[in-house]
Amino acid sequence: MKIWHPYTQEAADPAPIRIREGRGAHLVTEDGKPLLDAISSWWVNLHGHAHPAIAAAIAEQARKLEHVIFAGFTHEPAEQLAAMLAEIVPARLDHLFFSDNGSTAVEVALKMAVQHWTNQGRPHKKMLVAMANAYHGDTVGAMSVSDDSPFTAAFDSLRVPVLRARDAAEVVTIVSERSAEIAAVIVEPMVQGAGGMLIHSPESLKRIRECCSSLDVLLIADEVFTGFGRTGKMFACEHAGVIPDLMCLSKGLTGGFLPLAVTLCTTSIHETFCSRDRSHTFFHGHSYSGNPLGCAAAVANLKIFESEPVFERIRTIEQIHRERIAPLRDHAAVKEVRMLGTIAAVELKASDAGYLSELKPRLYEFFLNRGVLLRPLGNVIYVVPPYVITPDELHYVHDVIRDSLELAAG
Ligand SMILES: Cc1ncc(COP(=O)(O)O)c(C=O)c1O
Repeated sequence: MKIWHPYTQEAADPAPIRIREGRGAHLVTEDGKPLLDAISSWWVNLHGHAHPAIAAAIAEQARKLEHVIFAGFTHEPAEQLAAMLAEIVPARLDHLFFSDNGSTAVEVALKMAVQHWTNQGRPHKKMLVAMANAYHGDTVGAMSVSDDSPFTAAFDSLRVPVLRARDAAEVVTIVSERSAEIAAVIVEPMVQGAGGMLIHSPESLKRIRECCSSLDVLLIADEVFTGFGRTGKMFACEHAGVIPDLMCLSKGLTGGFLPLAVTLCTTSIHETFCSRDRSHTFFHGHSYSGNPLGCAAAVANLKIFESEPVFERIRTIEQIHRERIAPLRDHAAVKEVRMLGTIAAVELKASDAGYLSELKPRLYEFFLNRGVLLRPLGNVIYVVPPYVITPDELHYVHDVIRDSLELAAG
């Protein structure tokens, strides 16, 4: 049996690297070579690989209860996680629905938004508005709200129609004209990750919120990437003082240990599903919904925010990014630099700009040869490190990026 790896072109890409263990911001290969994980293993790791507190919490939970069907049953780790999330998310978001990953968190949000209106006898409100350059995941609903890209090209026939807005002003125009048929607007608040680490203003997010509120349209914030401190605030919506109607969380939820996701919503959305009429039920669930091991990992992850100086580490990362990224702006190979919180990006000039840029494999190999895991999005190099990366390690990552620009220019 051969293993088929994600986002990998076997005919062109190097063979996968076998990883033996991880510690802090480092991975260690089978032959003992350390590799600095500057992308938090697809943006999931927060407090370092194999963090002992999360590992211990999972082990302890596994000895008590590994899993139980979540329809009709509950357990302490799920309840504890709900209580801890309630402390850090806006009070209005007081209901939580479990799923398994970022894509399913988005599917849940889209389905909840659409059924919310159907349950109120307004089935015509089912259209979704999504942004240009958006990425919300790889399942069919999430792919539909994601913008057209090499990721979606083969599946256009499967994607549901969506209204696409280039910016906040266009959201306002679309929603103003068609609110009677629109269920929800979905955004990646402040930063569009896979679209190329594109940073947006808090004002644009506020404008979208105001427009949705005034025209009876739900706002979904996909914080799968931006949640849990990534942008310098616990959640990116806080930059704009915006509270969405639905919020999707995954990736950092378990500190990068186990696949788990939650979709949060308001009482007024939840209420429309509560009825003696059973057809109003939210008919969605997964075998592993609310998995106790995932919940225990998430609880341990959130406790680390309380027991370790996580936001101090985030500030240090921000400061180093700012110091090191800004001077690259004037380099001949650089088109633009962008940063917010722990996210830093360098967009390179390229005749074949985009995800399939030939720069990517060359840069990827260059970085690996220097002992750093960086996986450019086409011609966009980005750093999204675990928060425990040390200043010296982060400076090293930036040194390697600086050196790579010669390769890009040449
Ligand atoms: C904003 C956003 N939403 C959803 C997803 C999908 O998450 P997953 O890969 O866990 O399905 C991602 C993944 O990168 C993401 O960045």
